[in-house]
Amino acid sequence: MKSFDIRTKIYFGDNALDRLIDIPYKKVLIITDPFIRESGMLSHVTDRLQQAFIDFKIFSDVVPDPPLEKIEVGVKALLDYNPDAVITIGGGSAIDSAKSIREFSTRANGKDIALIAIPTTSGTGSEVTSFAVVTDTQNNIKYPLVSDSMLPTEAILDAELVKSVPASVTADTGMDVLTHAIEAYVSINNNEFSAALAEKAIEICGTFLLRSYLDNNDTHARKKMHVASCLAGLAFNSASLGLNHGIAHALGARFHIPHGRANAMVLPHVIEFNSGINKHSKSKKEYPKCVEKYCNVAKLLGVNNFNEITTIRALVGWVQFMNKEMNIPLSVSQCGVEKHEYMNAVEAMAEKAIADACTATNPRIPSKADVCLILEHMYD
Ligand SMILES: NC(=O)c1ccc[n+]([C@@H]2O[C@H](COP(=O)([O-])OP(=O)(O)OC[C@H]3O[C@@H](n4cnc5c(N)ncnc54)[C@H](O)[C@@H]3O)[C@@H](O)[C@H]2O)c1
Ligand SMILES: [Fe+2]
Repeated sequence: MKSFDIRTKIYFGDNALDRLIDIPYKKVLIITDPFIRESGMLSHVTDRLQQAFIDFKIFSDVVPDPPLEKIEVGVKALLDYNPDAVITIGGGSAIDSAKSIREFSTRANGKDIALIAIPTTSGTGSEVTSFAVVTDTQNNIKYPLVSDSMLPTEAILDAELVKSVPASVTADTGMDVLTHAIEAYVSINNNEFSAALAEKAIEICGTFLLRSYLDNNDTHARKKMHVASCLAGLAFNSASLGLNHGIAHALGARFHIPHGRANAMVLPHVIEFNSGINKHSKSKKEYPKCVEKYCNVAKLLGVNNFNEITTIRALVGWVQFMNKEMNIPLSVSQCGVEKHEYMNAVEAMAEKAIADACTATNPRIPSKADVCLILEHMYD
């Protein structure tokens, strides 16, 4: 038996942030990162809370790829302040921190607290997922925590907040959206509902990701990518992800490559691995099931080709083209990682990628040797 629901109420479109004037809470902890606090963006939230006479306190000790130590500090801040809601504004790191902080606080004192998530990147979809990724810095592991109790109560989408994102972050986070949608689409847990959401997200990425990258003020493209990010989040919240994220988590934790960039670099390799077709494949019957799905993805992106093999190649080529156009490194060597250090870490990263919760729903079961080979190919 399968089921599908969307528990997070989503506010979007013009004046979506005005929802904050109507929230039924009296005391709010705002969780954000130092950049958002200092940029003045926070006033979009605080002005409205003041207008509604809602008390608030700000916790801005969020860092990228939130480490467990910072979550602990946040839990203490939340328990001390004892709010009835948390509002988080920022990228995936801020939202994931808030989700984890609320989760551990509730486990500590049993008090249910509402969570309102306001993304400022178009990337993780974390505003609608039951995932939060935290980092164990001592062991270089990124853990996806997964629990429905982490789902935000409300999400507010305002693409104006994304306009200040630097081009490199637009590229990284945009490729994260595409990877979420493609992985959900080919996941062994996919279903008609998640597929519909993923297809729309893929279609939007095909038309609007490069436009967003090329012009921060392309409001139409920004709005579309902000919605695509949320749609892809809803898709993978239902269907889960795959090996691409498993490898990206291992790579990101070990060599501090931003999450979306790591996904973008892994994507061509995982599409090739999962498809498992090559010029010696004789008939359609020999192709793994996901080949048809990848061909649909290619169709949505307008790069379908002569037959399955050439279409998969065209899809891989399109992903590489996007990476090149958006200045995403094509290999790990271009990220400044030293070869000897990287090769020494390959085996440990492969083990972590295979143990990663996301890998469980990959359409092709990878062996450690398979993942080692992918990681080795990724170097140069
Ligand atoms: N929970 C999920 O479902 C899920 C899914 C995918 C990834 N993740 C996790 O999310 C994290 C990555 O999130 P992210 O890609 O959004 O990046 P991020 O939150 O780490 O932000 C990246 C950088 O962009 C800055 N930034 C954010 N918004 C900005 C804006 N509007 N203008 C200018 N700068 C801005 C931040 O200050 C930061 O320096 C990783 O830890 C990843 O593992 C979570
Ligand atoms: Fe992701």
